[in-house]
Amino acid sequence: MEFKELEELIKTRKSIRRWQEKPVPESLLLKAVELATWAPNGGNVQNWHFYIITSPKTINAIADAVQASVDLMASWPEVEEFGDTFKNYSRFSTFFRSAPAAIAVASSRYQSLADRLLEKREKVDPKAREMRDWRNVADSRIQSTSAGIAYLLLILHQMGLGATWMTGPMQAAGAIQNILKVKPGWELVTFIPVGYPNDQERPRSRKPVEEVTEVIR
Ligand SMILES: Cc1cc2nc3c(=O)[nH]c(=O)nc-3n(C[C@H](O)[C@H](O)[C@H](O)COP(=O)(O)O)c2cc1C
Repeated sequence: MEFKELEELIKTRKSIRRWQEKPVPESLLLKAVELATWAPNGGNVQNWHFYIITSPKTINAIADAVQASVDLMASWPEVEEFGDTFKNYSRFSTFFRSAPAAIAVASSRYQSLADRLLEKREKVDPKAREMRDWRNVADSRIQSTSAGIAYLLLILHQMGLGATWMTGPMQAAGAIQNILKVKPGWELVTFIPVGYPNDQERPRSRKPVEEVTEVIR
């Protein structure tokens, strides 16, 4: 692949929230997941699990669970403080009902050797506690899973599919885990609706690289 083609692929990917009714072949989704698992990940533990969902009944059941959680949140008096932003949040959490397919991503806990050592030491040593807090910010399992998801979105885009990385539905993770029969010890971190795009919007822009970069010479 020419570098220009890679740049084009990266810059034309965008979150897709509307799809054609056309079904997505299971084999394509399996291939995308297989390639995504080549992403770098902490200790090569590969503590991710992908649920490929092609059943409209299951996607509907998940959408119902997310809608119920959003409705519950909307009924709380505290929501008034957030005005219309909650309505936007609600919309951005539930739009996936019409998706012909989805990939839910679960992750299991992963503790590196350093994490395990610091966990033992922190009880008697405040310095170890501080070091563990810093390591917690850099949570390895979330970084690893995110690397896989970022690969996955790019691969799906190359396949002509459109998807959105979603954490909006995660307040309903308990219900979604029940629907997908997620195994004990595993937790859902992301939900990704997928399909053939039905979307005319242009990709969103990015901040200039100078604004987000410092070169330390
Ligand atoms: C961790 C994460 C969570 C996200 N959650 C949602 C979500 O719940 N709903 C949604 O519509 N988009 C969600 N997005 C998509 C972002 O809004 C989108 O990536 C961003 O606006 C940039 O647009 P682009 O993906 O089209 O380049 C999420 C993205 C990430 C990386």
